[in-house]
Amino acid sequence: MKMIKILALSALIGSGAMADDTLAKTMSQMETGLNSVQKGFLYNSPELIKSGVSDIHKANALFHNMDETKKYLPKDKQHMTNIAYNASKRIDTASADMQKALDNKEYSKAHKAYSDIINACGSCHAVVRGW
Ligand code: HEC
Repeated sequence: MKMIKILALSALIGSGAMADDTLAKTMSQMETGLNSVQKGFLYNSPELIKSGVSDIHKANALFHNMDETKKYLPKDKQHMTNIAYNASKRIDTASADMQKALDNKEYSKAHKAYSDIINACGSCHAVVRGW
């Protein structure tokens, strides 16, 4: 029974279905986080911004190195893994900047980091989607 489960699981991994599922969940977390950040800025709620940026930061950890990042790109885009990986690193930097700015109550600076995050999401999507 255990063996069958293992075989089924490796078939899933082999087909990339697991990676697809993980990616879809991660992107949904990214979107939820970004929505909270936007709403937090609109309604002037630092707490909401903080919780959103923390969600983004956690989700972005999926791309913690080049090899992991490559796994989630379409085969014909994998030669551009470095661009995708750099986009993810920019999200890391910008989300850390935002957290620091929020702690210092520098909301204008925090808002700039928010733009940087959105631009970085777009950089990776541009690679993936051939925009
Ligand atoms: C390192 C690359 C990378 C980064 C960075 C990235 N994404 Fe994605 N995103 C993808 C891939 C790959 C897909 C799936 C392919 C597609 O939708 O074209 C995707 C798809 C999505 C989707 C559509 C999901 C679906 O189920 O159709 C959303 C929403 C999304 N991303 C949100 C975000 C947000 C918000 C950010 C930034 C906070 C972000 N992504 C950053 C790679 C990335």
